[in-house]
Amino acid sequence: MHTIKYTFIGPIRQAVTMANLPVKGALKDEQLHVIQEAGILIKDDKIYDIGPYWDLYPEAQSIGSDMVNLKGDFVALPGFIDCHTHICFGGSRAKDYAMRNAGISYLEIAKSGGGIWDTVTQTRKASLDKLAQLTVQRANRHLKDGITTIEVKSGYGLAIEEELKMLKAIKLANENTFADLIPTCLAAHIPPIDYQGTQKDYLKAVSEELFPTLRSEGLANRIDAFIEETAFTAEDIQPYFQKAKEMGFDITVHADQFYAGGSQVAVNFGAISADHLESSTDKEIELLASSDTIAVALPGASLGLGMAYTPARKILDSGASLAIASDWNPGSAPMGDLLMQAAALGTFEKLSNAEVLAGITFRAAAALNLADRGTLEIGKIADLIFFPTDDYREITYQQGRLKPSKIFKRGVEI
Ligand code: NIG
Ligand code: FE
Repeated sequence: MHTIKYTFIGPIRQAVTMANLPVKGALKDEQLHVIQEAGILIKDDKIYDIGPYWDLYPEAQSIGSDMVNLKGDFVALPGFIDCHTHICFGGSRAKDYAMRNAGISYLEIAKSGGGIWDTVTQTRKASLDKLAQLTVQRANRHLKDGITTIEVKSGYGLAIEEELKMLKAIKLANENTFADLIPTCLAAHIPPIDYQGTQKDYLKAVSEELFPTLRSEGLANRIDAFIEETAFTAEDIQPYFQKAKEMGFDITVHADQFYAGGSQVAVNFGAISADHLESSTDKEIELLASSDTIAVALPGASLGLGMAYTPARKILDSGASLAIASDWNPGSAPMGDLLMQAAALGTFEKLSNAEVLAGITFRAAAALNLADRGTLEIGKIADLIFFPTDDYREITYQQGRLKPSKIFKRGVEI
C-alpha cells in the first residue's frame, strides 16, 4: 500500500512564488509575491501548503512530516523551465563556430551544405541508445542548474524513420533522467537534401505518415517548423500546420530569426509560441501582442551567432508574453546555460528581475501548455530550487554564476 509522504522544508529566507502574475505584459519587481521566512510543505510529489514557516509548522509536525531544516539563507523558486532546446544530437559543430568567427555567416554555411545538415549526418550515424545517452547527459547538466523541465526537439533526422529514432531516443532519455523532457517534432527543420521528391512531398509524407505514429505511440504532442529562407516558406507550411491543427497538436514556430514572416504564420495558426524573433519589427510585435501566442526569446542563439537580441523590452511593453529559453543546440547555441543567457538578455534589454524569472518559470510553462508547474502554489508539482543567498536579486545580478545548491524534483531531493 502506498503511504503518503510529507516533507516540510524551511525556514526559507525568501520564497519567490511567481504566483498571481499575468501571463502577458511587463512586470515590476514590486509585483512579485515574496514570502519571508517561508515554509513549503510537500505531499508526495505536489506542494501541499506554502506560507510563513511558523504558521505551517504545527500542521507539518502533527501529520508526521520529514523535516528538512535549512541551515543558512536560501531563496526558493519554482524549478526553471527551458521551453526550447535541441539537446538530442550527435557530433559537434565547433568547425562552424570557427568559420562564423572568420566571417562566414550562419546562412552561408547552411547554403553550402554545412550547418544543420552536418548535424543531421552525425545524428543519423548515432544509434537510438547513444542519442538517448547524450540527451540524458545534457538534461542532467541542465537539471544541476535548476532546470527541472526541458523541451527537446527532433529535427536532425529529417526522414520519417530518423525522426522516429530521435523521438524514441527522447522518450528513452526521459525515462532515465529526473528532469521532465517534453518532446516536440521538428521534422520541418530544413528540407532534407536527400529526399526523393519536392519539399511539398516531404511535408505531406511527414504529416500523413509520421503524425499518426506520434499520436499512437505517444511520442510528441507538439509540432514545430522553421520558417526561413533556408528552411520552409510560410506558403509551404500551410497544409502541414493545417493537418497538425486538425489532429490536435500544439503548434510552435521558429519565427523571424533572420527575416520576418514566421510570427504571422504562428498567429494565424493559433500557435502556442513563436520563438527567436530577433528580426521582428513593430508590426510583428503588435501582431503577437494581439494574440495568445507566447513570444520566446533565445538569447543563447544571439550569443552563439553574435547577433542582435530579440527585442524583449518592446515585446513586453507591447503587452505580449515573453518566455526565455536556451535553444541549446550544436549550431547556433552551443552554450546551454539558460540562467546566464536569461540574465544577459535582461541586461541588454532592460528587463526587471520579475520579467527574467517569469520567462523561465510560469511563462515558459505556458509556452509548453503545462498548467501544473511554474509557480510555488498549492497543488503544483513540487519542483523547487534553492539558491544560497538571502536576496533573490542576487540571481540575475550574478548573471548566472550563482547556481541553486538544493533541488527538489517532484518532491524528491536530487
Ligand atoms: O533554433 N534556427 C533553426 N534551428 C536551430 C539551430 C539548429 C542548428 O543550427 O543546428 C535554432 O537556432
Ligand atoms: Fe531552435
